[in-house]
Amino acid sequence: MKSEERHNEHAWDDLVRVGSSFANPARPADFQNPELIINPFGWLKAPFRGKRILCLAAGGGRHGPLFAAEGAIVTVVDISEEMLKLDRDVAQREGVSLKTLQCSMTELGEFGDSVFDIVLQPVSTCYVEKLAPVYAEIARVIKPSGTYVSQHKQPVSLQAATKPLASGGYALCEPYYREGALPQVAGSEHREFGTKEYLHTLEDLLGGLCIAGFSIDAVKEPRHGNPLSESGSFQARSCFVPPYLAIKATRLDEPSGSTLIWTPSN
Ligand SMILES: C[S@@+](CC[C@H](N)C(=O)[O-])C[C@H]1O[C@@H](n2cnc3c(N)ncnc32)[C@H](O)[C@@H]1O
Repeated sequence: MKSEERHNEHAWDDLVRVGSSFANPARPADFQNPELIINPFGWLKAPFRGKRILCLAAGGGRHGPLFAAEGAIVTVVDISEEMLKLDRDVAQREGVSLKTLQCSMTELGEFGDSVFDIVLQPVSTCYVEKLAPVYAEIARVIKPSGTYVSQHKQPVSLQAATKPLASGGYALCEPYYREGALPQVAGSEHREFGTKEYLHTLEDLLGGLCIAGFSIDAVKEPRHGNPLSESGSFQARSCFVPPYLAIKATRLDEPSGSTLIWTPSN
């Protein structure tokens, strides 16, 4: 495991131990309508009963137990054992079963090729320096025609200041093309303090999927903005800066065609 991955393992363990709002397990009421959380855009085709689902970097007791409650055969992978414990606790509370595996999203060697019908990855690619190895592993473990649904931090959100200028806008503080971890930010709902985060360009987030052998079916920038909210809040900033990017992709049966879909610009 790379040193930044080890760093983030400990950082996420600590976030759970201090009861951070970033580690927010599903409540009993969420099990009345799991799809609100596991399928917010209606991109996945229910029923999930008997489907093999990898909830990748998805510890925290939300997606895994909710898919399990829908009858799916669920594996939750996460680098943080404390986050995975939340999945086991919620699964036990709700009387559903799932597997948990502590490992990095960059190393899915525990799994064979073409195992999963669906890979669901909540916001987490910001915790690895290089995206291509993650996409390559997902392309390997997902079945041909399988569905990969992911959310990512928007690069512009990682560039922009977390607090507004006096004029009300948000300064771009980081270059778009950059190397290494971003500077830490405290007290922001956009950034998990203590973690090492990396900016991935849209070229890498979207084009990288095509290179890895996926076709992109849908892209969303989930709306979180509210112009009436307090200045400096998550909702106020989200009117100026989209926080997340959601992508639905399908594993191509013959990925060798991917270069016909996307040509690198440099
Ligand atoms: C924002 S949380 C996502 C799950 C959360 N339950 C949710 O509802 O959005 C990000 C997760 O990514 C995990 N993570 C960070 N780096 C990772 C890595 N290299 N491999 C696997 N998981 C990682 C963290 O431990 C954390 O559980």
